[in-house]
Amino acid sequence: MSSSFAEDLQLALGQRPRSISPKYFYDEIGSALFEQICDLPEYYPTRTELGLLQAHAAEMAECIGPQAQLLEYGAGALQKVRCLLDRLEAPHSFVPIDISGAHLLSACGQLQAAYPTLQINPLVADFSRPHSLPQGSGKGPRVGFFPGSSIGNFTPLEALAFLKMAAFELRGGGLLIGIDLIKDPAILHAAYNDSAGVTAAFNLNLLARARRELGADIARDGFVHSAFYNSALQRIEMHLMSLKRQTLRIAERVYEIDAGETLHTENSHKYSVVGFQSLAAQAGFSPGASWTDPREWFSLLWLQAPA
Ligand SMILES: C[S@@+](CC[C@H](N)C(=O)[O-])C[C@H]1O[C@@H](n2cnc3c(N)ncnc32)[C@H](O)[C@@H]1O
Repeated sequence: MSSSFAEDLQLALGQRPRSISPKYFYDEIGSALFEQICDLPEYYPTRTELGLLQAHAAEMAECIGPQAQLLEYGAGALQKVRCLLDRLEAPHSFVPIDISGAHLLSACGQLQAAYPTLQINPLVADFSRPHSLPQGSGKGPRVGFFPGSSIGNFTPLEALAFLKMAAFELRGGGLLIGIDLIKDPAILHAAYNDSAGVTAAFNLNLLARARRELGADIARDGFVHSAFYNSALQRIEMHLMSLKRQTLRIAERVYEIDAGETLHTENSHKYSVVGFQSLAAQAGFSPGASWTDPREWFSLLWLQAPA
């Protein structure tokens, strides 16, 4: 991963606006920080989505059907999928896909201990790029699980491209996907600006990773976390904001950044259920059941893939 991290970071710093994929947050330290984020009082998405899974896993398993090959895009700690695994009828296998390799393999070890008979085939890969999947049994469907509202990290156009790829990859099966709903910006603002500063550490880990992996010369006190709701684009944006005019050096290349200028590190788009269903329909899915919490903060959607 490190060579494309170097290339993409250099590209990001050389362009205007400066922007890089959030996938680079996730080395081992970034993955561990994300797990801490999930436990923060302000970070409602994980608890809310887990509550929906606990309450409705039987209906979701009914949509998925027997003998499925279940894929998880952006697997992380593999906690949420347990709700489904507890309800699925004779799953053929589970294929967790994640870019954060060491973290994925350790999470798989824990999952295997809890589900000793489950066939787990981890795939260390970038889910937004072409990847080859292990064969299923041919007897059951291939079904995707994409929780965590990670789809919101894509712009709607990128999300459409991902959904088209998934509709093809999952043809004959379906996709169970979590989306974060449009809500009071104050709730969103708090979720991405927690009082313990964990989200700030997660964001700043991108620069720490560049120092560790690429030997980048970037001042430790040169940037701060900035996260705000962009209401026109219905998304939280995370940036790393430069506190001063400074010079960054990465592998012989030099980049200047002024005080107040930023490196845009993440988008988290918010959707309505119907808005997202219409995007999924453009990608070829037929929207089915959906499950939303009583506060209407988060939804899980079943999308039937084309035949
Ligand atoms: C927001 S976390 C969600 C984790 C977990 N699925 C959950 O719902 O709590 C995103 C996960 O996706 C992984 N990830 C991010 N971008 C990725 C990409 N392009 N390809 C594969 N994995 C990716 C990260 O390593 C991380 O584990």
